[in-house]
Parts: sequence; C-alpha cells; structure tokens
Amino acid sequence: MPKPLIAANWKMNKNIEESISFINNFKNSSKKIKNAEIAICPPFTSLNEVNKIIKGSNIKIGAQNMHYEDNGAFTGEISPLMLKDAGCDYVILGHSERREYFNEDNQLINKKLISALKNNINPILCVGEKLEQRENNQTFDVIKGQLTNCLKNINKEDAKKITIAYEPVWAIGTGKNATPEQAEEVHKFIRGLLSKLYSNISENTRIIYGGSVKPNNIKDLMNQDNIDGALVGGASLKEEDFFQICSYSD
Ligand code: 13P
Repeated sequence: MPKPLIAANWKMNKNIEESISFINNFKNSSKKIKNAEIAICPPFTSLNEVNKIIKGSNIKIGAQNMHYEDNGAFTGEISPLMLKDAGCDYVILGHSERREYFNEDNQLINKKLISALKNNINPILCVGEKLEQRENNQTFDVIKGQLTNCLKNINKEDAKKITIAYEPVWAIGTGKNATPEQAEEVHKFIRGLLSKLYSNISENTRIIYGGSVKPNNIKDLMNQDNIDGALVGGASLKEEDFFQICSYSD
C-alpha cells in the first residue's frame, strides 16, 4: 500500500493572498510530516501561485473539478490540460456537492475520470450515501451503483491510479463524522467491490475517508484496516488543524 493520502479540499474558500499565506506557513511545518502524502486542492484561481510555492516540497496540488474535453467552446470550464499546466497531480471528481448542486451524474463523472487518466492526473473519486439512503439500508447499493458506473470502461492499469474517497453526505460539514466502525464497514465493502471489478489491485488502492475529519478523530479513523487517508474540508482551512491531521501518526 502506498503512503496514506491526506488531501485538503478548500472548496470555494481562500483568495490568492490567503492561499499564499497558508502555503508559505504550511510548507515549513510540512517538512516534519513523514508518514503521509499531502495534497492541497485550492480553488482554480489559486492553483498557479500555490504551485510556485510548493516546488521542492513534499506537497502536491489538486483541482476540485474539471471538464472532460481538452479545450473548446465550453464557457466557464477548465480542462485537464489547463490543470496540468497549473501543476496539478490530482483532481477531485464526483464530489457530492457537485452531484447535488451541479447535477453531475455517474455518466458525466465517468467521462471526467477517463479524461483525467488520459492526461496523467490522478483522480480522487468521491462516493457516498445520503442520510435517508443510510436510514433505508441502501448504503451498499448506492456505493456499488456509483462505483461501477463511474468506473465503466476504465481498465485495470488506469484503475490503479484512482483514489476512492468515501464521503457520507450526512457527515460533510456537519461536525458529525462517521464513526471509525461505520467508515471501516463501507471501506471494506469498497475494497471487496474493487477486487471483483479488477483482480489484484484492491490491496494497493487508497480508499480515503471524508466527512468532518478533525485533529481529534483522525487517529481513530486511520487505525482502521481499510482507511488509507482522509479528504478534509473545513479543518483543512486552518494550518494548525491541517498540520495536526497530517501528522496524526507522529
Ligand atoms: P468537511 O471536512 O468540512 O466535513 O468536508 C468534507 C469534504 O467534503 C471533503 O471533500
């Protein structure tokens, strides 16, 4: 298994100046982080500046979304080539906020995944159930549907490059994280599903957890066998909190 991945999803927060200030400070402390790979996903407008500062550090950057075409008449969209140009190693795809507010469905996310992989950007594919679905015992069906449809026509070599983020919608931004046991149950299910879809890749696929990850719950989450990192929203906006999360094992 590669090193755990701790990724910051800043969502629609921080202007360029705030992004620079965060990264300048965090870059120094990040030298002490030995046991995790770190990725920061700022808004598009900050990518280029952040990319300049992280050079020579152990921090990688990612985008929060992308269009599947390389270029063309798609007003307001950003292409994989542009993300590469801005230094992105990662792109978050299929986040529940994009599914909910921008009507992204599995078919569209599948196109974006294929395009990211073609352009050597490592996708972080988000899946997760809503509260109502959990309460109706549909969690596994929802996750299975999202994963199998998003991964359609993606071969094994490409699938190896994908990180899966399990983000139960009811845990996002609510301060109510899934318990380590609840998360582990779904992560284990995802790993099982991956091993059915592709032979011999699931042991090396990072399955990370997102949803109210904080300095005080990261350790218990990471102690689970099938949790290989975290996708952090609110707590990634404060350098000290994010540093503590990244150094959970030190
Ligand atoms: P919070 O950590 O704020 O709950 O957000 C999680 C998330 O959506 C990360 O992508």
